[in-house]
Amino acid sequence: MSRSALIAILPGDGIGPEVTQQAVRVLREVAAQGGHQLAFEQGLIGGAAIDAEGSSMPQQTVSLCSRADAILLGAVGGPKWSDPEALVRPEQGLLALRKKFGLFANLRPVCPNPRLNDASPIKPEYLDGVDLLVVRELTGGIYFGDKERGEAHASDTCRYGIHEIERVVRLACALAQRRRGKLTSVDKANVLETSRLWRATVDRICGKEFPELEVEHLLVDAATMHLLTRPRDFDVIVTENMFGDILTDEASVLAGSLGLLPSASLAQSDGDHAFGLFEPIHGSAPDIAGLGVANPYGAILSAAMLLRHSLGLDAEALRVEAAVDAAIAAGALTRDLAGPGGVTTVAVGDAVIAAL
Ligand code: IPM
Ligand code: MN
Repeated sequence: MSRSALIAILPGDGIGPEVTQQAVRVLREVAAQGGHQLAFEQGLIGGAAIDAEGSSMPQQTVSLCSRADAILLGAVGGPKWSDPEALVRPEQGLLALRKKFGLFANLRPVCPNPRLNDASPIKPEYLDGVDLLVVRELTGGIYFGDKERGEAHASDTCRYGIHEIERVVRLACALAQRRRGKLTSVDKANVLETSRLWRATVDRICGKEFPELEVEHLLVDAATMHLLTRPRDFDVIVTENMFGDILTDEASVLAGSLGLLPSASLAQSDGDHAFGLFEPIHGSAPDIAGLGVANPYGAILSAAMLLRHSLGLDAEALRVEAAVDAAIAAGALTRDLAGPGGVTTVAVGDAVIAAL
């Protein structure tokens, strides 16, 4: 990274602002230590943007993101904007952003920290050695197909073009190659046409371009079970948009808290760095918003992914990840992990920065 990089900060709703603030502190510290120039500019998205501008993704936010090298986002949504009949919804802003910037590949790593085994309801012997990466297709499928709503009927169309499947499968294969060489593709090919196209495409691409990978197909219903009964067996899981949404919330149970998990949503790239949006996988948690107790590790680890995938600063990403491990080892745990004795969001940021 030679010139100054611009990071768009979109805090969003609920606990979004609290957790992104800690992630930005960590990014500033890493940049200062490594002599990197990072600039931050804040934009509105979600409910906060609806309140201020009447739109969940104002034009100003779009142009900020267009100028930026990467986006760091908190969370969107909340009861204030969740009337089922509402015309504008916070989530639309996030979906529009994903679509607008072609962020088709959503990477969600799950690597439980053994120190947090007690926070997971899963027996420790199942968690030992779990290290998996879900690659969720993010700009196609039922999220983006035609929608209809009549008086007495409603429909959401699930559509996939072959190119949309190919590019995400290729990326997942390339990632599997650099890991343990195993790819699990999850679909519902016994029922859905889109899944049959998905499965045929996985077989063709893996057979021709990645013959060294071990490839497994799982139906999504079975996958939900296998994810908890044999989580260690998974390396890279690739799946379509909605299955990936559901499976990654489930996978967070392995890590002990939804608050721990980061994600990267990447656009197509020609070289090593891809434009991306980085966000914790948790939601806006309105029940604890403003209390200063939200877990910022997911946001901080998303910032690490931003350093790695969009800025090409892998060493810095590893330093942030090591600092998170050290902070966890030092007992900097919010209440989702430690119960009522948990520390504050800011205290976790302090601990990570101290470890850096
Ligand atoms: C996620 C979220 C979003 C999704 C919502 C907020 C639209 O649940 O990133 O997993 O369903 O993709
Ligand atoms: Mn989700």
